[in-house]
This record gives sequence, structure tokens and C-alpha cells, in this order.
Amino acid sequence: MIYSKIHSTGSYLPPKIVTNKDLEKIVDTTDEWIVSRTGIKQRHFALDHQNTSDLAFEAASDAIKKGNIDPATIDLIIVATSTPDLPFPNVGCLIQERLGIPACPALSLETACSGFVYALNIADNFIKAGQATRALIIGAELMGRLLDWTDRSTCVLFGDGAGAVILDKSDEPGILYSYLSADGRHRSLLEARPKEEGIDVHLSPSIHMAGNEVFKVAVKTLELLVDKVIEDNNLEKGDIDWLVPHQANLRIIAATAKRLNMPMEQVVLTIQYTGNTSAATVPIALDVAVSDGRIKKGQLVLLEAFGAGFTWGANLVKF
Ligand code: ACO
Repeated sequence: MIYSKIHSTGSYLPPKIVTNKDLEKIVDTTDEWIVSRTGIKQRHFALDHQNTSDLAFEAASDAIKKGNIDPATIDLIIVATSTPDLPFPNVGCLIQERLGIPACPALSLETACSGFVYALNIADNFIKAGQATRALIIGAELMGRLLDWTDRSTCVLFGDGAGAVILDKSDEPGILYSYLSADGRHRSLLEARPKEEGIDVHLSPSIHMAGNEVFKVAVKTLELLVDKVIEDNNLEKGDIDWLVPHQANLRIIAATAKRLNMPMEQVVLTIQYTGNTSAATVPIALDVAVSDGRIKKGQLVLLEAFGAGFTWGANLVKF
């Protein structure tokens, strides 16, 4: 049997830190409101000259260095992002050029916050189908460039960042299971679109979210999702060592952990200092917990995400 296994992880947070106190000076909000409603204390933003591919490059370089691999051995690149540098070439090709990766499939995909779990599933299938042996999978976002700084209900939630994984062909199981889904019927609850309704397509898009309605759908969907992962894999709830969730809201994460009967000590959290970095949250959190030694070889890790579309998904991973 052919399997795929995570070889190494990497991440990058850009240097500009914005605290809740800083935001109090820009919009009518308080540190207390943001922390109690979301769990977020600060977030990172890119410098003006940094683009999504710059963040993606740093995260990929970190994963390559930690994995001690030659970039020339990579034969598939997938970048999950909703904020590509350009409509084309895709961010995967930009990364390929910068890392000197030989000709291979390179693509980006825009499934918002679920982007990384989608990308990991796609790369796993490429490897199992014999079409790749070593994949570079990245989640990278400049959410700061999609923010309306007059809308306090959204501008306090997001940040910039990137995370990466090297996924190798393996004789032993690594990605044990993935589940992906989407439902476009609720698109109007969460969209990046020009502020003014109309036909001027040259207006830059910003995030519009019916936060409370999205919150309710997210909690319900993620509860059903983790139930499905447990059932499909004949697991007991206590079998999972670590939950690496999408970091949109601490209350959503806590509800998912509760559904798994999992103490919060087994949940990897970065939301307090990253905010919601969309497709980058899961690989950043994964890298943090692998690098600090919490996630160990042989352990069972559940990755999950929910985001605009709506899209959602999970990967069950044996390290
Ligand atoms: N500071 C102070 N008050 C605020 C702020 C703020 N920054 N933002 C909103 N409020 C106010 C509202 O105006 C409202 O006041 P009102 O009661 O007088 O009308 C009150 O706080 C409560 O607002 P709600 O929106 O009901 O607050 P809620 O508890 O739902 O929290 C939040 C809002 C944090 C956005 C939450 O709904 C949430 O996390 N939603 C889900 C986000 C998510 O998962 N998105 C998907 C991923 S993102 C992606 O895919 C791109």
C-alpha cells in the first residue's frame, strides 16, 4: 500500500504586531470585548512590501530546513490562499520559482479557512495515486488586506501568516483519513466583496460577515464533523491525542473540544497571538506544537476547519 506521511512542518508570522489596545484607538472596541468574545489578544500583519508569496516562501523554507530536505526533491506544490499576489501566475508557481523546484504540478486553491485541510487531502490523493512522492503544502494569507477598518465586527478578528508541511510518500500510514465538504447556499453570510453593492469591480473587496449566524453554523457543523471522524474511523473519543483546530474563535474551538470530551490542554491554540489567519491557522498551529515537542511521533492528531463558502473539512493524521 502507498501512504503519505508528514515529514516536517514550518511557519512564519510577519513582524508587525497589533494588539487589542492598538485597535481601541481605531474602532469603537475594547480589549475586554475582543478577548471575551474571541480569545484574540493580538495579531501579526505583513509589512507593506510583503506579499502572500513572501509569507508562503518563509514558511516553506522553514519546513524545508527543519526537514533537512533538498527542494529539488519536491514534485507537487499546493498553496491554499484567498489572497493570492496576482490572479496569475498562481502562488504555487511563484514559490516554485523562488525555491528552485523542478517542473511539477503547482497550484493554489481558494477555499478560505478550510484551504489547508483541503490541500492536505488533495496532496494525499496525488501521492496515493502515484502522481507525486513529496508535496509542499502551504496555507498563506494576507487577511489584513481584506479588512474594512471601519467595521469593528470584522477588523478585530483577522491577521496575516503562513504555515507549511512537507508530505512524503511512505510505507506506513500517516494521513489516515480526510473528509471535505461545502455548501454554497449560505454564501451571503460570509463574503469578501466590494463594500458598495454595485457593478464597480475595481473596488477592492473586504470581509462582510454575519458573525453570530456564522458562529452558530460553525459550531453545529464542526460538532457533526468530529462525530463523523470518530464514527468513520471506529475511534473512541479518548483515542485522539491532539486537536489542531482552525483558529477563528476560542468559543467555537472549546465547543468542538467539548464534543470530543477533550480537555483544552490537548488542543493546540495560537489564536491569542495570531487571530484568524484563515487557511494558515491549521499549519501554523501544527508547526508550533510539533516544534515545541507537544506532538510526538506515533500520536493521533485531528486537524479541522470551517470557513467561507461555507467550506469545512478534517484530516486525521498519525505522526
Ligand atoms: N467591539 C465591541 N463590540 C462589538 C464588536 C467589537 N469589536 N463587534 C461587535 N460588537 C457588538 C455588536 O455590535 C453587538 O452589539 P449589540 O448587541 O448592541 O447589537 C454585540 O457586540 C454582539 O455582537 P455579535 O455579533 O452577536 O457577537 P458574537 O458573540 O456573535 O461575537 C464574533 C462576534 C466574534 C464575530 C462571532 O460571532 C464569531 O466568531 N463568528 C464566527 C466567525 C467564524 O468562524 N468565521 C468563519 C471563518 S472566517 C473565514 O472563512 C474568512
